[in-house]
Amino acid sequence: MKAQDSTRRPRLPANYYDDPLYECVRVMDFAEKAKAKLDPIAWDYLEQGSEDESSLRDNRAGFQKLILRPKALVDVHRVDMSLELFGQKLDFPILFDPAGGKNCFFPDGEMVVARGAKASKTLHITNGGVHKMPVAQRPQWWQLNTGGAIESTQMIKDFIKPLEDEGCGAICLTIDIMYVSHRDRNIRNRFERNWCEIGIPPRDAQGKLPRALSPETVALYPSRRTPSPTWENLAELCSLTKLPVVVKGILTAEDTELCVKAGAKGIIVSNHGARQLDEVGGTIEALPECVAASRGRIPVLLDGGLRRGTDVLKALALGATAVCVARPYLYGLAAFGQRGVERVIELMRTELALDMGLAGVPNLAAIDKSLVRIRGGSF
Ligand SMILES: Cc1cc2nc3c(=O)[nH]c(=O)nc-3n(C[C@H](O)[C@H](O)[C@H](O)COP(=O)(O)O)c2cc1C
Repeated sequence: MKAQDSTRRPRLPANYYDDPLYECVRVMDFAEKAKAKLDPIAWDYLEQGSEDESSLRDNRAGFQKLILRPKALVDVHRVDMSLELFGQKLDFPILFDPAGGKNCFFPDGEMVVARGAKASKTLHITNGGVHKMPVAQRPQWWQLNTGGAIESTQMIKDFIKPLEDEGCGAICLTIDIMYVSHRDRNIRNRFERNWCEIGIPPRDAQGKLPRALSPETVALYPSRRTPSPTWENLAELCSLTKLPVVVKGILTAEDTELCVKAGAKGIIVSNHGARQLDEVGGTIEALPECVAASRGRIPVLLDGGLRRGTDVLKALALGATAVCVARPYLYGLAAFGQRGVERVIELMRTELALDMGLAGVPNLAAIDKSLVRIRGGSF
């Protein structure tokens, strides 16, 4: 066995001691910086969950219920995190989730994140609006959601044609937002949805925001102009596009099966970052039943509450093909713009590599259920 080769240690960035970016040593350090920088109502918009924020707590608590069972004496001098997803080669299994309202956190947020994703080779599920970027800079998925874009055959066709023409990798269909949920913080803040597009307006000398014209409110019975999409609409979307359709927002075995039947090529087990239906538990708790129901036919991804490399490792151990994050890169965006986005994913991916090495799993194929057990389980 050779001694450790110290010459392979990467060099520190030139401004390591002076640049506040490097004061952040973990994802949640970026959260603190973001909170300090943002208008309080932008911070609430970013951080909040719906109703009692019970699922928000559960998303984190779920990971803490699991502990790792490392494997000893495995050669881990190289750790390979690469994988292939829908024909795309990825260096590591962490993706950027779609997130609306980025302009509340940083000007031109969607484009800034898209550039950060490109520079850090992270697959980005964008909310759109990045048509201005050269095609070569867009290895992304696109998001559709149940807000409306698959109501009719013509609407589906109109939506997918440019995506196919522009080399989009897949379509991510978010299915858990037929209504915007009751979000106490937004309602208290009289948050105006339009601010997601234009950013938070400046406050006056007294620190007051301009009065919102149509604030998020409470006690308005939900109504939609049109029926919300169903499995038939999903099946139609899948049949009309050659792009893989990935359904985001699945939490049960039954719905996993229905996704496969409808022709979806993947799912993301997700509770929308605990921002839609509350009291659904942590997503990591829903993962095993969805993985079992998929029976290896489609990749199962997971999001919700992942903040450290060990969280990613636990998700992979329970059968996730890859994971997605939203708040982590939004913290980076709010605190440092593109550099923050890149640094957050750099931290998460290097933590994962280190954790894989320490757990004795040199590649993704070596990760399985035997790597975790439930805290407090039998002795
Ligand atoms: C500010 C914000 C905006 C979001 N907007 C969307 C959206 O437009 N569409 C969507 O599918 N999910 C949206 N999400 C949910 C994320 O895609 C993702 O499911 C979730 O946030 C992952 O959990 P995490 O933030 O703990 O990583 C949003 C999340 C946040 C924090």
